[in-house]
Amino acid sequence: MTELVDEAAAGFEARYGYAPSGIWSAPGRVNLIGEHTDYNQGFVLPFAIDRRTFAALALRDDDVVRVSSGASDDAIQLSLADVAAAGGQTGAGALGWAAYPVGVAWALGQVGADLAGLPGFDVHFESDVPVGAGLSSSAALEGSLAVALNEVWRLGFDGHTLVDVCHRAENDFVGAPTGILDQSAALLSEAGAALFIDCRTGEAEPVDLGLDEADLAILVIDTKVTHEHSNGGYRERRESCERAARELGVASLRDASLEMLLAARDTMDGVTYRRARHILTENQRVLDTVAVLREQGPTEIGDLLFASHRSMRDDFEISTPELDLAVEIALNYGAIGARMTGGGFGGSVIALTPTWMISQVQVSIDGAFAEHGYTGPEMFVVWPSRGAGRDR
Ligand code: GLA
Repeated sequence: MTELVDEAAAGFEARYGYAPSGIWSAPGRVNLIGEHTDYNQGFVLPFAIDRRTFAALALRDDDVVRVSSGASDDAIQLSLADVAAAGGQTGAGALGWAAYPVGVAWALGQVGADLAGLPGFDVHFESDVPVGAGLSSSAALEGSLAVALNEVWRLGFDGHTLVDVCHRAENDFVGAPTGILDQSAALLSEAGAALFIDCRTGEAEPVDLGLDEADLAILVIDTKVTHEHSNGGYRERRESCERAARELGVASLRDASLEMLLAARDTMDGVTYRRARHILTENQRVLDTVAVLREQGPTEIGDLLFASHRSMRDDFEISTPELDLAVEIALNYGAIGARMTGGGFGGSVIALTPTWMISQVQVSIDGAFAEHGYTGPEMFVVWPSRGAGRDR
């Protein structure tokens, strides 16, 4: 991690010819349980991982904004006036990856920062959060800049407002219709704990994971598969949930019960019914996981994790053969619980595994993927880590 801080500083100097005034960072995340529940005003339980995006930044004397990254040759330059004037998604497409950081500056303006009166900035990013693995590299990017600008522009926004800012950047500027899961995890997480979030109120509370004490670790299996329909599929699932809520006569599925859903079984189409059943049962699984973690510890949550995977595979239909294989093999060769994590249609599986079984699980998955002719997955252990903040 220290290395990336240095790389961010060095990258900044190489691009801009002077030293940054500070370095801030934000983590990627895995979601332990609670998938697609966030935009249904439900419950989620993510944790920040020990992979981060670092933003080296300095304010300028004029209103110019320059954005660069070690992962890209494209450097973007524009003025704060341009940023402020960007209406919604106007021009976001042309910015490529830089739409995320530019969107953050824009969204700070939306929640009250006076962009016309503030100085511009140079920022350079370095990251070890894999892109496209379902580990929220975009929220890490947004979060690192949000905390940096909040400090250097002396805006004084609290963490919850910054979650809102990053969520607006992603939804209203970049145009991805996501919930608040990723941004909350990136900004509000605490080391060693998962974050239990009520997405209706935004309230977030740390829940001790106790992995060390139980000799358990979370292995991430990045299948390296990103399906083309991931965006369309996500939007479609969102629409199904909204349709189900409408048909049940509630504002969101948070207000529906399984009894209500069951009573509507004959009038609702089968797909919508199953989509809603995933959300309702998943909300309950999050509550159960929190209770079990608090009362019995992580060794007892394995069945809940797998039940969640089954529900995503069969009812919500967002899994893939690669994700299903990774879950199956992990469970057969030593993991006590496993599920896909994130939006689905590709990305990663998390496997709750006794530390001494990690290599056995990895080797078994390598073998099974090779046997099926699938691309070799990337596997690494993640530890619950702190949320966004200043590093230097
Ligand atoms: C993506 C979105 C989140 C959430 C998850 C599914 O990660 O960004 O808001 O909806 O998918 O749980």
